[in-house]
Amino acid sequence: MLQKTSPEIGGMGHSVKRKEDLRFVQGRGTYVDDVHLPGMVYGQMIRSPYAHARITGIHTEAAKKHPGVLAVITGQDLEKAGLAWMPTLFHDKQMVLATGKVLFQSQEVAFVVAEDRYTAADAAELIEVEYEDLPVLVDPHRALDGDAPILRDDREEKTNHIFHWEVGDRQATNQELESAPVRAKVNAVFQRCHPAPLETCGCVADFNSATGRLTVWATSQAPHAHRTLFALVAGIPENNIRIIAPDIGGGFGNKVPIYPGYVCAVVASLQLGRPVKWIETRSENLQSTGFARDYHMTAELAAERDGTLRALRVKTLADHGAFNAAAQPSKFPAGLFSVCTGSYDFPSAFCEVDGVYTNKAPGGIAYRCSFRVTEAAYLIERVMDVLAAELQMDPVELRLKNFIPSDKFPYQSPLGWTYDSGDYRAAMNLALDKIGYSELRKEQEEKRKRGELMGIGVSSFTEIVGAGPAHTFDIVGIKMFDSCEIRVHPTGKAIARMGTKAQGQGHETTFAQIVAQELGIPVTDITVEEGDTDTAPYGLGTYASRSTPTAGAATAMASRKIREKARKIAGHLLEVSEEDLEWEPGKFFVKGAPGKAKTIQEIAFAAYTNVPLGLEAGLEAVHYYDPPNLTFPFGTYICVVDIDKGTGEIKVRRFVAVDDCGNIINPMIVEGQIHGGLTEGLAIAFMQEIAYDESGNVQGGTFMDYLVPTAVETPNWETDKTCTPSPHHPLGAKGVGESPNVGSPAAFVNAVVDALSHLGVRHIDMPITPWKIWQILKEKGVAE
Ligand code: CDP
Repeated sequence: MLQKTSPEIGGMGHSVKRKEDLRFVQGRGTYVDDVHLPGMVYGQMIRSPYAHARITGIHTEAAKKHPGVLAVITGQDLEKAGLAWMPTLFHDKQMVLATGKVLFQSQEVAFVVAEDRYTAADAAELIEVEYEDLPVLVDPHRALDGDAPILRDDREEKTNHIFHWEVGDRQATNQELESAPVRAKVNAVFQRCHPAPLETCGCVADFNSATGRLTVWATSQAPHAHRTLFALVAGIPENNIRIIAPDIGGGFGNKVPIYPGYVCAVVASLQLGRPVKWIETRSENLQSTGFARDYHMTAELAAERDGTLRALRVKTLADHGAFNAAAQPSKFPAGLFSVCTGSYDFPSAFCEVDGVYTNKAPGGIAYRCSFRVTEAAYLIERVMDVLAAELQMDPVELRLKNFIPSDKFPYQSPLGWTYDSGDYRAAMNLALDKIGYSELRKEQEEKRKRGELMGIGVSSFTEIVGAGPAHTFDIVGIKMFDSCEIRVHPTGKAIARMGTKAQGQGHETTFAQIVAQELGIPVTDITVEEGDTDTAPYGLGTYASRSTPTAGAATAMASRKIREKARKIAGHLLEVSEEDLEWEPGKFFVKGAPGKAKTIQEIAFAAYTNVPLGLEAGLEAVHYYDPPNLTFPFGTYICVVDIDKGTGEIKVRRFVAVDDCGNIINPMIVEGQIHGGLTEGLAIAFMQEIAYDESGNVQGGTFMDYLVPTAVETPNWETDKTCTPSPHHPLGAKGVGESPNVGSPAAFVNAVVDALSHLGVRHIDMPITPWKIWQILKEKGVAE
C-alpha cells in the first residue's frame, strides 16, 4: 500500500501542475532549432524525386562554387569514410546518402553545407543528379511475385522478403477453425501513417578539434543509445561523444531512429571543424522519416454458436519500405504484435507475419505504440465485431462472454505473454454506464426505422508496455533496463536524472512526484533532468510507454535506497536503533513517540555535516531497473457516431474512454495523455494516410494532404478510470501514454461500421473519409 502524501509534498495521485509548462507557456523552451553556436553553419539535404532509379551522375561543381557554400557531401564521399551505409535499429542497413541507386522518393542523395540556411537551400538547387528510371514496387502484395523488381541488390538474398515470423500453435488453431460451428474473418489494412510531431527532426553537431569532443544536440528519444551507435559506427570514442536532447516538441516514436541528416551533420562538422545545424522541413519529415503501421492483416475467429471463442488465426503482410528500419526490440520482427489475442481467453491461437521491401520510406517505427500493439489491438477489436454481426449478438455481450476472468491473472496467453493483472469487466461496465449504452441502442433502433444512420463502437483493448525485461528485450544488443540517479543536497532539495527523455509527457513533474512519494521531499524541491548523456545514467529512452514501468520504477528504487541510508542517519541523530524508527512521508519518528522525529531535510543536512562513524557522507543513489515483466494496461472505449446521408460526413457525437493504468502518479497528466492519444486515434481513423501512387510518389507528404485535427474536428473526450495495480511494479503503476492511440481506432471504425451494419457493411479500411462513406451509401442506394 502506498502511503498518502500531503498536497504540499505532492506524491502519487496528486494532480500537480506541470512544472515544465512554466517555460513552455512563456515560449522559453529550448528546442534544437533554438541552439545557436558561434560559427554555426547549416546543412540542407538533396533528395530523390524518384522512387526507384539508378544514379548515373551527380554534378556538384556549380553548388560548390556558389558564394557561401562550404561543402557538398555525396554518397561517394561517405563511402571513402566507410559511412555510406549505416546499420538500422533492426538487423538491416540503410543508405546514409544514396550510392548506385535510390529506393524511395525523398531519399537522401547529397548534403550541402553553407554559411546560412538560405544559401544552403539555393545551392541545393544547383546540384544536378542524373537518374535512370527503374521499375517501381509499391504494392506489398506484389513484392514476392516472380516478376517484381528486386529492390535491394546490395543484399545476398535476391528477394524482397525480409522475414517470416510465427508464434502459437498452428495445427491446433487450424483444427479449431475447421471444426468450429461459427467463423468470422476480416481483411483489414492498418494504413501507413506518420507521427507528425509538431517539431520535426534535427540536430546541431559540434566537433571540437582541439578537444576531440563531439557534442550533438539532437531531437532524440533515446540519447544514450544514439551515443553508443555513433561511437560504434563512426569510431569516435564514446567518452568523446555527448548527446544532448533538449526540449522535444513531440516524438511519438518518430525520434527513436538515427536519420541520415544526423550523420551528415556530424560528418560535415568533423570536416569543417564548425558546428553544423540540420533541421528538416515538414515535408521532409513526413516523406522520409520513420513511418508507422502499414500492416495488411487477416484475422479469423472460430467460435461456438453461443459466442464462446475457440481460436484466433492471424496472417499479416508487413510493408517495411526500402530498409527494415523498425525501431523495436531485436528479438521481435513484428514487435509485440503477438498480443493480438487482446482481452480474450482463447484456448488456441496462431499468428504469422511476413515482412517485405517496397519503394517507400523505411520504417516502421512504434508510433505511440509498443511496437505493433496498435495494429494488434485494432485487428482483434475489429474481428470481434465481425463475429458479433455473424452471430447477430450485441458486441458488448460477446466481449463480456469472452473476457479473461479477473481471477485468472496472472494470465498466460496462448501466444506467450504473461498478463500481469486486469479486470476487463469493471472497465467495460463503467464505460457502459457512463455512456448509457442500452438507451443508445434503443435510440439507434428508432433512428434506423426513420432511416437515420447512427453507430456505436466498442473497443476493449489490452496493452503490453514497459519494454522490457532483460532476458528477452534488447535494442541492438543493449538490454532494455532503465535508470535513475538521485542526489539530495544538504538543504534537502534534490536532483533526479533518468535514462529516459520526455517529449511532452511531463516527466519533470511526474518523476519528481515519485521521489516526493518515496522521500517526502516536496515536489517543488526536486529537479528532474533527462537527455544529457554526460550527466544522466545510461538508459534506453522514452517510447512505447516504457518510462513509468522502467525509469519510474528505477526512481522509486533509487529513492528507497536513499531512504534506507536516511534511516541510519535518523537513528544516529535520534540516538535510537534503526529498528525503532517508523517512516511517514517526510520524516522518521520513534515508534510510539511521534514527537521524536527527524525530517528528511534535517537528515539530508546531517548527511553532509554529521554522519555516524563508518557511514559514507552524502545522500545519493542510482538504480538500474530490470523489470520482471511488462505491464498490461487496458480499457474500454465507446464511441457514438452520426452519419450524414447527403455528404457521408461522420460526426463523433460522444466518446467515453475508461482507462486502467494501475496506480496513477498524476491524474491530470494521465488525462492529458488520454486526450492527446484519442485525438491522434481520431486522425488515424478518419483523416490520415501516407499513400503512394503507382510511380511511388508520396500522396500524403504535406499537411495539405496529411491532415492534423484541430480543436474544430476534435470531439469532447469523456474520460474515467478503474485501477488494477501492477503486482510487480514497485508503485503498482502501468504505462499509459500510448493506450488511447492503441485502443481508439477500433472504437471509431466499429462505430461507423455499426452505423452501416444493417446495410450489410462489415468492414471499412481507415482512413474512413466522407468520400468513402458516400460511395458506400451510393452503392447501397441510401445516399441522399
Ligand atoms: O514512456 P512515456 O512517458 O511516453 O509513457 P508513460 O510511462 O505511460 O507516461 C506518460 C506520462 O503519464 C508520464 O508523465 C507518466 O509519469 C504519467 N503516468 C502517470 O501519471 N501514472 C501512470 N500510471 C502512468 C503514467
